[in-house]
Amino acid sequence: EKGGYDSFMEKEINEQPKAVEETLLGRTDAEGRLALDELRIDPEELKNTSKIIVLACGTAAYAGQVAKYAIEHWTRIPVEVELAHEFRYRDPIIDETTLVVSISQSGETMDTLMAVRYAKEQGARTLAICNTNGSTIPRESDAVLYLHAGPEIAVASTKAFLAMVTASYLLGLYLGQLRGQLFTGQIKDILADLHSIPSKIQSILDNADQIKDLARRMADTPSVLFLGRHVGFPVAMEGALKLKELAYIHAEGFAAGELKHGPIALIEEGQPVFVVVPSPHGRHSLHSKVVSNIQEVRARGAKTITVAEDGDDAVREFSETVFHVPETQPLLMPLLTTVPLQIFACALAAEKGYDVDQPRNLAKSVTVE
Ligand code: M6R
Repeated sequence: EKGGYDSFMEKEINEQPKAVEETLLGRTDAEGRLALDELRIDPEELKNTSKIIVLACGTAAYAGQVAKYAIEHWTRIPVEVELAHEFRYRDPIIDETTLVVSISQSGETMDTLMAVRYAKEQGARTLAICNTNGSTIPRESDAVLYLHAGPEIAVASTKAFLAMVTASYLLGLYLGQLRGQLFTGQIKDILADLHSIPSKIQSILDNADQIKDLARRMADTPSVLFLGRHVGFPVAMEGALKLKELAYIHAEGFAAGELKHGPIALIEEGQPVFVVVPSPHGRHSLHSKVVSNIQEVRARGAKTITVAEDGDDAVREFSETVFHVPETQPLLMPLLTTVPLQIFACALAAEKGYDVDQPRNLAKSVTVE
């Protein structure tokens, strides 16, 4: 049942090319335009969305943070991302023009469900991005975008995360199309890049040995820091969460720009720091800023491990180890840069002899508040 892998998690990491492919499948019409007819919300109503609030917990919330960058860029609709359990307790500003997008693998997370119910009561339109057909959150929402990633058994979310990010991109493109914010040509280009992602993930999986070797050598590490910027920031948070959950290692993700506002004080000789490096081809290139961050921590003795685009030679000099990922457009990078971090956490936990599918104290779906 584990398909020859040692764990469901490893199997699910390896199913990611397929998961992304399935999420993309059948969501365009013959002219190559987004066709999300399944959404069941009047397109006119969607078009007039004044604000989007994304609600989720854990890994799904990090997918929501990635979604914010893409959806705001493509639609010019303001997007807030909120942990579902915080949402109801802050008197949020909602009306009928607010689109509340919940993201949940299980569709049963109680915190997220309660937040969706609250949003509905306040008059918002609710759209669920969900992996589990017929589960409670999509049943109670006005619209649903299913991930089609297939069942996820391991407690730590991997393929559902990539599928959530993919589905969020589809939603962003669809809204951008409805509002005339994106031209058909632009949509086609982005979709073409999305369709090339599965084979790029596969190439990362095919080169996983380098990551696994590093994980084995780092089994005794007491703490790991993760830095990222722009869409790399939620990826850093996700990398840290995976390591906490699976390997019980103290791990923190930071926005690289925050470093000098505090976290740099943590750096001492030998401290491992993972850095998710933005594309050197980004529109407003943050690349050189992040390279400076790598130099700053390295100068203070950090052991720097970078996740960088193929051909990014600038990081090599300052990295103890570089994991390369294939090139794609900057907003889509999380679909690739997350993968080495998942493989790392899984391999490190396995090296320590832990049960990677059922980490201590955790449940696959959290059905209590
Ligand atoms: O089923 P959901 O996507 O709503 O679950 C949300 C979180 O509980 C979940 O992502 C959790 O953080 C995972 N254990 C992460 O690996």
